[in-house]
Amino acid sequence: MSPLISPSILAADFANIQREVEMLNESVADFIHVDIMDGVFVPNISFGIPVTEAIRQHAQKPLDVHLMIVNPEKYLAAFRNAGAEIITVHYEACTHLHRTLQEIKSLGAKAGVAINPHTPVETLIDVIEEIDLVLIMSVNPGFGGQKFIPNTFSKITRLKEMILQKNAATKIEIDGGVTAANAGQLVASGADILVAGSFVFRSADPAQTIQDMKSIHLV
Ligand code: DX5
Ligand code: ZN
Repeated sequence: MSPLISPSILAADFANIQREVEMLNESVADFIHVDIMDGVFVPNISFGIPVTEAIRQHAQKPLDVHLMIVNPEKYLAAFRNAGAEIITVHYEACTHLHRTLQEIKSLGAKAGVAINPHTPVETLIDVIEEIDLVLIMSVNPGFGGQKFIPNTFSKITRLKEMILQKNAATKIEIDGGVTAANAGQLVASGADILVAGSFVFRSADPAQTIQDMKSIHLV
């Protein structure tokens, strides 16, 4: 099975955002991954609602919005209105995760939950049926271009087992340090969606790189 690919616009040329989004439109990318960082939940600031809206103006692919922010529940409607089709909040930022998931779904978006590298997948067992996608961070969130953490493979296997046991429809998304070198093993472990930032945008031909990732051989 070929993975769904969600290129991260964080690694794009922000001075030419329209051109970058048009390149993604023409490519076989399935989503556009939009990384929102607040300088509090993570030690970096990316961009916010107006830039997300600007991306949406040109995008012909669904926006997969990854909120690396504290109090994400305050901004769900704003990001939905800015064009988010998937809204992913961090487990570590949500005191009332179940309520937040209900709110995302009531806005008509798909609800995602991201977990940091130290957070065990088992912590989601009682809410897994409410989650459309689990985003496993395979680097510490905050920056693009970091090195993939290999422990991710076992997290995917355990999460996949949990999803099957619960007979849930939850998808598994992997974010951070994803390249053609680990994509095959990620998919073989059970990943459905691969996020890739620097590997795509720093390649000579980003659209071709997306195509290559999509047609990855299982290992
Ligand atoms: C990291 C972000 C990632 C990042 C991935 O905090 O959530 O989505 O853009 O970038 P690469 O693929 O370069 O690791
Ligand atoms: Zn991300």
